[in-house]
Amino acid sequence: MRIIKTKDYNDLSLKAAEIISGQVMLKNNSVLGLATGSTPIGTYKELIKKYEKGLIDFSEIITVNLDEYRGLAPDNDQSYRYFMNKNLFDHINIDKSNTYVPNGLEANAEKACMEYDALIAGVGGIDLQLLGLGVNGHIGFNEPADSFPLNTNCVKLTQSTIDANKRFFEKEEDVPKEAYTVGIGAIMQANTVLLLASGKSKAPIVKEAFFGEIKPQVPASILQMHKNFILIADEDALSQSPLA
Ligand code: F6R
Repeated sequence: MRIIKTKDYNDLSLKAAEIISGQVMLKNNSVLGLATGSTPIGTYKELIKKYEKGLIDFSEIITVNLDEYRGLAPDNDQSYRYFMNKNLFDHINIDKSNTYVPNGLEANAEKACMEYDALIAGVGGIDLQLLGLGVNGHIGFNEPADSFPLNTNCVKLTQSTIDANKRFFEKEEDVPKEAYTVGIGAIMQANTVLLLASGKSKAPIVKEAFFGEIKPQVPASILQMHKNFILIADEDALSQSPLA
């Protein structure tokens, strides 16, 4: 595990974009595993800036996103596909047919999950996996559990997640109750894993996940075992760890 401590969120975003562009430079047809959420937005902005300056070429890049809400169409503005288009893909020279997100419209969960695992295997696995970190230690939608889910799986969202999402929808029944998420297996098989953690709210879980015991109740803790795991965290996120 390598830890890069940054002054703040902007510095974290710059450094993450540097590492991703290094990966793209070394292998122009890299498979990038991507995440949604608020943390990677700054990184995506920096990547867009690099593209606009002619410093990075995404034309051969393949992306596989971590997760998608079950039941949401790609054009729903709450879907993760919509998020990725808006925050990255619409602004760079990536071929959108090479960008993959689990199929939220596939009602057959087993089929959706098997197809996504087959897709990841078919593109040769993930070169670099970008991750955020849930305050409960989740990565993707792999929530604290009694074992690490290996394959792409369908998760029931917790009531607190459903409540938090309510404000984005007209009716409560429209709020997705489930999501498809890549499992821990595909994440651990990625050549490089880059996890971003920013802000004081992440400080307790950064300490627990990366300086504590490895256990499925803290899914991100398994990354301590990864052969090439890079944690980029800002001073606030590291404020409770031995590196504070
Ligand atoms: C997003 C994802 C989630 C987020 C995590 C942190 O695709 O899989 O695990 O990375 O919930 O979210 P933020 O960055 O909003 O704190």
